[in-house]
Amino acid sequence: MTTAKAYRAALLHSLGDPAEVGIDASYEYFADGLLVVENGLISAIGPAPELLAQLPSDVMVEHFPHGLITPGFVDTHIHFPQTGMVGAYGEQLLDWLNNYTFPCESQFADAAHAETVAEIFLDELLRNGTTTALVFASVHPESVEALFAAAHKRDLRLIAGKVLMDRNAPDYLTDTADSGYQQSKALIERWHGKGRLHYAVTPRFAPTSSPAQLTLAGQLLEEYPGLYLQTHLSENLKEIEWVKALFPERKNYLDVYDHYQLLGERSVLAHGVHLCDEECQRLAETGSAIAFCPTSNLFLGSGLFNLPQAERFKVNVGLGTDVGGGTSFSLLQTLNEAYKVMQLQGHKLDPFKSFYLATLGGARALRLEDRIGTLQAGSDADFVVLDYHATPLLQYRLSQARDFAEVLFVLLTLGDDRTVERTYAAGGLVHQR
Ligand code: GUN
Ligand code: ZN
Repeated sequence: MTTAKAYRAALLHSLGDPAEVGIDASYEYFADGLLVVENGLISAIGPAPELLAQLPSDVMVEHFPHGLITPGFVDTHIHFPQTGMVGAYGEQLLDWLNNYTFPCESQFADAAHAETVAEIFLDELLRNGTTTALVFASVHPESVEALFAAAHKRDLRLIAGKVLMDRNAPDYLTDTADSGYQQSKALIERWHGKGRLHYAVTPRFAPTSSPAQLTLAGQLLEEYPGLYLQTHLSENLKEIEWVKALFPERKNYLDVYDHYQLLGERSVLAHGVHLCDEECQRLAETGSAIAFCPTSNLFLGSGLFNLPQAERFKVNVGLGTDVGGGTSFSLLQTLNEAYKVMQLQGHKLDPFKSFYLATLGGARALRLEDRIGTLQAGSDADFVVLDYHATPLLQYRLSQARDFAEVLFVLLTLGDDRTVERTYAAGGLVHQR
């Protein structure tokens, strides 16, 4: 008696970054494929007729005749305590933080509130096909506790951390350099490496952390192997001016984080909308990644991320929804906006590059490409079934497509949570539309 299960549908996964290996070598596609899952891992992938012939007769096969199976999506930047304030009207970054974000996040001092929202948040990730996210909690350790406990129960691969913020924010929402350090330490010891959870040291951004707090953030990274670092970088022009005024001795915004030894292979910096070449060079040298957050950058009027510049310097780039600055949990909708951000700069975003960003690119930004982001045998069985017939328009439009590249482009442009028929994490069904 085997515990294996098999899923028959069209299959697509990325093999590399189209910017490095070219479009044709960047993906593998089976029009009639089979994905075999065993003990929470993918055990085989290939053409259905071939694999079915070798499959033991007791293995259950589920067939999705108008489905496309892809790896679960990877969201490299999102704020769990901003779930209740998505779509806040009328402000750019700094006023938006003061008027909407900080009051909303203050509610997470209450553990019961944090527990309620953690379930809503994870439901929403899975409804949208996101199986791994790098998540900002609030400044309250209770918020991290609630999120990790909820994710652990569902056996999700998730990275999160408590916000460090000891200045330039309301008193009700600040820690101190020392309390932030101690609280982070306790959370790391409790959660980092438990199940599929990882901890991210999370200074909100340079303006809200004192030099003492940034120093201790760097110290945490030294003390515990495998920790992540997440923060914000060069999102908004007024923010950048503020950082210059607060850290006049630093060469540029990135250099603040560099100085406090916060850059490295597990460092993910959100936005990077206004980077100079020197900053890109340094991001690449240190192996740090940028989370490209198009819906947020448009909604908050922050600017247009220059993906070709990042590619030129070989900076690792993943995709972020940045909810609640971003307006959708859907990485499909995020790609729809990413395409427009490129159009406004005179560039095309190829659908296979888009798909890479939402899957393997995100996994690489998080240094998890040996576990997630593809359908390679041995990977975690974190995958989604997308439905070509999700809406009447999608079904009709796809029937007019001339080739698979067009199918993929239309799917990424029109797709949203309705497109995600099922989501699997570690081989278990965690969402069914
Ligand atoms: N910069 C500092 N904090 C935030 C935040 O919560 N959202 C965004 N988009 N940018 C930030
Ligand atoms: Zn953010």
